[in-house]
Amino acid sequence: MSKRILIFDTTLRDGEQSPGASLNIKEKILIAEQLSKLGVDIIEAGFPVASPGDFEAVRQIARQIEGPVICGLARAVDKDIDCCWEAVKYANKPRIHTFIATSDIHRDEKLRKSKEEVIVSAVHAVKRARSYCDDVEFSPEDAGRTSVDYMCDVVRAVIEAGATTINIPDTVGYTEPEEFAGRIRTLFEKVPEARNVVISVHCHNDLGNAVANSLAAVNAGATQVECCVNGIGERAGNASLEEIVMNLKTRNDYFQADTGINTRELYKTSRLVSRLTGLEIARNKAIVGRNAFAHEAGIHQHGVLQSRATYEIMNAEDVGWYGENIVIGKHSGKHAVLSLLEEEGYILDNEQSLRVTEKVKALADKNKSVERDDVLAIAMDILGELPEQEQHIKLEGFTVTTGSGMTPTASVKLNIDGEEKIGAGVGDGPIDALSKAVWQIIDPSVQLLEYNLKAITGGTDALADVSIKLQDANGRIFSGRAVHEDVIKAGAMAIISGLNRAMNASNGHTKG
Ligand code: KIV
Ligand code: ZN
Repeated sequence: MSKRILIFDTTLRDGEQSPGASLNIKEKILIAEQLSKLGVDIIEAGFPVASPGDFEAVRQIARQIEGPVICGLARAVDKDIDCCWEAVKYANKPRIHTFIATSDIHRDEKLRKSKEEVIVSAVHAVKRARSYCDDVEFSPEDAGRTSVDYMCDVVRAVIEAGATTINIPDTVGYTEPEEFAGRIRTLFEKVPEARNVVISVHCHNDLGNAVANSLAAVNAGATQVECCVNGIGERAGNASLEEIVMNLKTRNDYFQADTGINTRELYKTSRLVSRLTGLEIARNKAIVGRNAFAHEAGIHQHGVLQSRATYEIMNAEDVGWYGENIVIGKHSGKHAVLSLLEEEGYILDNEQSLRVTEKVKALADKNKSVERDDVLAIAMDILGELPEQEQHIKLEGFTVTTGSGMTPTASVKLNIDGEEKIGAGVGDGPIDALSKAVWQIIDPSVQLLEYNLKAITGGTDALADVSIKLQDANGRIFSGRAVHEDVIKAGAMAIISGLNRAMNASNGHTKG
């Protein structure tokens, strides 16, 4: 008989800790809604004590999202646990997830606590969390590098204190699949009480083993897997949700395990997360990369035409990918545009739908044919716009002069919270000159880290898609993005959108 594996999604917590992936509250709610449609069992919605923005996001998700358990993270300290409860208590099914590091290196260097002191803190934290909530998860952080005997002592103590889920994290992605599975088997042998709670795993991908380690742990008896959409997360990321789920589904004969995931929502969820976090998906990424179901070699194409099973172990439709079969032409209506966007996981309100359709039509009038990627870029641009009250900086105008044998010069007019400011600059190229002009006006401690320009489709009239990354004085990273026919204007708008995000974060509107 198949066993049921719980999918614990931490895209909004560990995933959001990916550098440059900060999401605002509205974006987090959109992702949480989609995760609920996808059928995840638990959503880890954030780390409420980390910032007022995080607290508010967890609180709103707890209030609005029905279905999955809504979980918040808390260190094993009273302040965190109390704050976490205040945020998750509105959920139908709330959970507090508390953790403390147990490896020698973390205890000695970070916590400066003895083994006994760590157990006392862990037990106290679990009891405090249980005083609020029946569903309490505990993680011995850096379990992958903790002596197995001591890890078992900690787990025994927290189960006795009332933890209902025990999560074993490979925090730094250090372990190998057989070794990690062995740790889970030993846990069941040495702590028989572990059979009365849910044993979960949480693997990071530093050595590229996150999915393999999680699946090995499932074979060893774990029944909850923590993962992120597209495998995003701290450093090299967490185990990828779609890879875990499709391994369990495709190789059910091997794992004899099922999830509650509606796999047809995977592709859409993946696109939504990529678009909102600004973290692109490699074309060859398993399950959700654009090439995952494409066949280039003649011999493969021939085989697939005879029988798909020759080279395809999964159906593209099973992950919600229906091919690039909608072509948008001059006469395509709103319906064609919206059904393409729906397929790609874009959720638009009426006004946004109207604006996307108008822009697509305007482009079609100029360009004759508009490609799928043009439509996606336009929608992404409109959806990525900050609400009016968060647009402190607005681009009022700019000029750029360049030419052979001339130093590019630029001037820019910005409106910052109602005040008009003008800057000028010279640079190595037109964009460099323009950014120097912007930086003559704005906070110099914010730096431009990355500037990426992509032509959406071929041709000299292609839309320009610019994405940038900025870093503020506290090392926080912010992304900005803009799409326009004018490549220089797209650059200026992307920089301004990043600056607005940085400004909102320092005003406490969003998290860095
Ligand atoms: O990687 C880790 O150890 C974590 C814990 C908080 C579970 O994210
Ligand atoms: Zn983690």
